[in-house]
Amino acid sequence: MDHDLQDYLKTAVEVARVAGNMVKKAYYVDKSVVTKESFADLVTETDQAVERKIIESLEKKYPTHKFIGEESVAEGKKCEWTDTPTWIIDPIDGTSNFVHSIPYNCVCIGLGINRKIVLGVVFLPVTDQMYTAVKGQGAFCNDKRLSVSNTSDLKNAVVYTEAGNSRQPDTVLTKIENMKNIVFASHGIRCFGSAAVNMCMVAQGSGDAYIEYGIHVWDIAAAGIIVEEAGGVLMDPTGSEVDYLSRGILCASSASVATSISKIIKPVEFERD
Ligand code: IPD
Ligand code: CA
Repeated sequence: MDHDLQDYLKTAVEVARVAGNMVKKAYYVDKSVVTKESFADLVTETDQAVERKIIESLEKKYPTHKFIGEESVAEGKKCEWTDTPTWIIDPIDGTSNFVHSIPYNCVCIGLGINRKIVLGVVFLPVTDQMYTAVKGQGAFCNDKRLSVSNTSDLKNAVVYTEAGNSRQPDTVLTKIENMKNIVFASHGIRCFGSAAVNMCMVAQGSGDAYIEYGIHVWDIAAAGIIVEEAGGVLMDPTGSEVDYLSRGILCASSASVATSISKIIKPVEFERD
């Protein structure tokens, strides 16, 4: 079957804008927050309402397509990724930023066909930045073409990473150890509190790499293709081929930066999506 990727992109952008307006409206008022897997893993009514809206809108237009959404999975739906066109949705990536009134939060909509990501949309509603990419057609932010930095040596790199939402002591301590190793080897680390925002920063050349264990497929699917289409590389943090369901991601401006990071970090085990 032929797929009209431009039509899918146009729809995803429209839906992300509607979803983003819901997020932006809720951003300026008090939020009622509930916790999920740890006291630092947050969800709000807005996450749930926005995900319902995104799925409803896409399902209406593409009734045969499938969906993986963060909040649907949290409510018990299986995370099933088959060859059927599958929309992978994070209604708010950076939920703790959203809760704490930090503008780095975004709506993420990715599309996989035959289990390959073919397009991604990451929309930051508070700052009005729409990042998009379609396979083979480049990456853009508000229509400006993106390109990763030309950094090829970790010594000259700024690396995004995160402590994440788990408060399991071994997990946190290994992550801190990994951060320490990266600090000693690079120009420094940054944490924007959203996997997708960190990845869009790498895509636009604002910093050079991002590594995190513990993320989910919905945090990275849309932003992953944006990094690749901006000329960056994606891999598993162990150095092997990227595996979107493995709960780990490493992306960088160049394979040499990514490989250097991979060599100085220890793996952190998380259950697969
Ligand atoms: C989280 C953010 C955060 C990362 C966590 C993610 P959420 O996603 O991307 O930066 O450290 O691992 O779970 O919960 O805000 O969608
Ligand atoms: Ca989320």
